[in-house]
Amino acid sequence: MARKSSAEAPAEEREKKVNIRKIGALKPVLGFLKPYRMRLVGAMLALAFTAGVTLSIGQGIRLLIDGGFTSDSSAQLAESVEFFMTLVVLLAFGTFARYYLVSWIGERVTADMRKAVFSHIISLHPGFFESTSSGEIQSRITTDTTLIQTVVGSSVSVALRNLLMFIGGMIWLFITNAKFTLILLGTIPLVIVPIIVFGRRVRNLSRSSQDKIADVGSYVNESISNIKTVHAFNHQSADRTRFGEHVEAAFDVAVTRIAQRAWLTVAVIILVFGGISVMLWWGGQDVQAGVISGGDLAAFVFYAIMVAGSMGSITEVLGDLQRAAGATERLIELLHMDNLIVAPAQPAQLPADTQADIEMRNVSFSYPTRPDHLAVDNVCLRVGKGKTLALVGASGAGKSTIIDLLLRFYDVQQGEILFDGVNISSVDPLELRHHIGLVPQQPTLFSGTVIDNIRYGSPDASDQDVFAAAKSAYAHDFIERLPNGYDSQVGEAGVRLSGGQRQRLAIARAILKNPDLLLLDEATSALDADSEYMVQKALDSLTKARTTIVIAHRLATVINADQIAVLDQGKVVATGQHDELLKHSDLYRRWADLQFKISGAALSGEAV
Ligand SMILES: Nc1ncnc2c1ncn2[C@@H]1O[C@H](COP(=O)(O)OP(=O)(O)OP(=O)(O)O)[C@@H](O)[C@H]1O
Ligand SMILES: [Mg+2]
Repeated sequence: MARKSSAEAPAEEREKKVNIRKIGALKPVLGFLKPYRMRLVGAMLALAFTAGVTLSIGQGIRLLIDGGFTSDSSAQLAESVEFFMTLVVLLAFGTFARYYLVSWIGERVTADMRKAVFSHIISLHPGFFESTSSGEIQSRITTDTTLIQTVVGSSVSVALRNLLMFIGGMIWLFITNAKFTLILLGTIPLVIVPIIVFGRRVRNLSRSSQDKIADVGSYVNESISNIKTVHAFNHQSADRTRFGEHVEAAFDVAVTRIAQRAWLTVAVIILVFGGISVMLWWGGQDVQAGVISGGDLAAFVFYAIMVAGSMGSITEVLGDLQRAAGATERLIELLHMDNLIVAPAQPAQLPADTQADIEMRNVSFSYPTRPDHLAVDNVCLRVGKGKTLALVGASGAGKSTIIDLLLRFYDVQQGEILFDGVNISSVDPLELRHHIGLVPQQPTLFSGTVIDNIRYGSPDASDQDVFAAAKSAYAHDFIERLPNGYDSQVGEAGVRLSGGQRQRLAIARAILKNPDLLLLDEATSALDADSEYMVQKALDSLTKARTTIVIAHRLATVINADQIAVLDQGKVVATGQHDELLKHSDLYRRWADLQFKISGAALSGEAV
């Protein structure tokens, strides 16, 4: 819920701001329309055609009544009916073409926008996602694009069509009967304005009713995904009550909307048919007096309804356009967000024969959200080819930050990080990361099968390679025992794996990538002795003869390292090997004692 609601609150604020925004903000959408120029022209032609045919139907009605019904010649009746049927068929196919083309363009533009925005943000620097929540981005890509789709794929077409019909209808009205038209112009607002006002209220309510439904949805989501916590704390009845409140709130809004909508229908029926009755009464007298024909009156009523209807539609569409303008602005903002981590114009090349010799020279860094606090403070470190460096230190000492910097998730503020002597900020990040394997502290599995997950960083790896990697990661046996072996679904909707199993999958993923530099954020979570042993063995096979930087929480890892760096508040306070540090560094001794107490039992008989 926390995630959802953070995206919803600004959405409401935005909604208010949007109303005052100019429709001009929609301009960037034109750029997305450009590739489909020909279809656009086709759609416009179809639109103009159907509007023309619709207008002609009024004449068809007039001919039918005056020529067909009132004359006694059956040939003339047949002719009138034929003309009318021709118009109807033309209208039907014209509408098909218009609807198909316009909706197609709407869907296409939305699809292109979604792809453009996603493909931009997926490569944005990770720091960006600290200030923008994932829910916010999600809602921009889904909800905002849908608003634009409505506009491009229907509203604009509706507006243009109605504009044409309004103009054409007015012309025909004047041609049919100028006197009535002037009277009509005075009275249309009496019918239309109440309907518009009512209609707007109904639309607002239906929007807020959708928001309430979203609340209900996120509540279900949160409770179900944390069902064990819910049960453990006997929170079910509290949840029932609170969920009930959400549902009732949604119901209340819905009922208000239904009532308004029902009244709207009453108003529409009375006003529209009342208006038509008045016209018929008035016009009927002229028909009786022989001033105009019955067909003229029928055509006049037809055009009057059309003109009034198109006025109503146009005002409705204006609201859509405004909302879509706001949506476009938000999407374009995402699309133009600068990527802070990019390859320089002339990226430096890493040596072809990669050694993964890593050096940090006087590196200082503070996170953009905390510019006055050095998370890494003047750090100098070196790891030679194939060596292992262990980072130890208290929570918050800056260990994970160093790993982030090596992956160039952020650029350092001072000093430099060298990979085989090349400053990593002069290298294309894709090239740099190609050489690096990461086993994160909390291994992430993506929805898909086990084999997909292992193959995550090496999509071209053969099945045999995957099995070999899984074997080296001591994951093969447990995978074989899963319901569908390597094809078992994992993640949200699949089998749940234990912490140790997930870690071994992450290790298999890294082994398969066969990186030159391995970055390892060791898990602190207490694994059971058995899986701890398995994970340790898997790590041993991974770190062998490979440059490795490991954030160490286990004594076993530290003792095997070629070098250990002790970090405290962003600074390296001591470096050396286990025995030296035990002698020279108080901080390290304290840390080691603590680790020994925690994991000493598991360690004895192993590793040392
Ligand atoms: N994204 C961030 N934005 C701002 N400050 C951050 C961010 N990530 C970490 N920090 C801060 O930087 C410092 C170093 O954090 P870091 O995550 O590197 O610690 P750590 O040594 O990995 O700790 P742990 O052992 O608990 O994982 C901490 O003070 C932390 O609060
Ligand atoms: Mg950390």
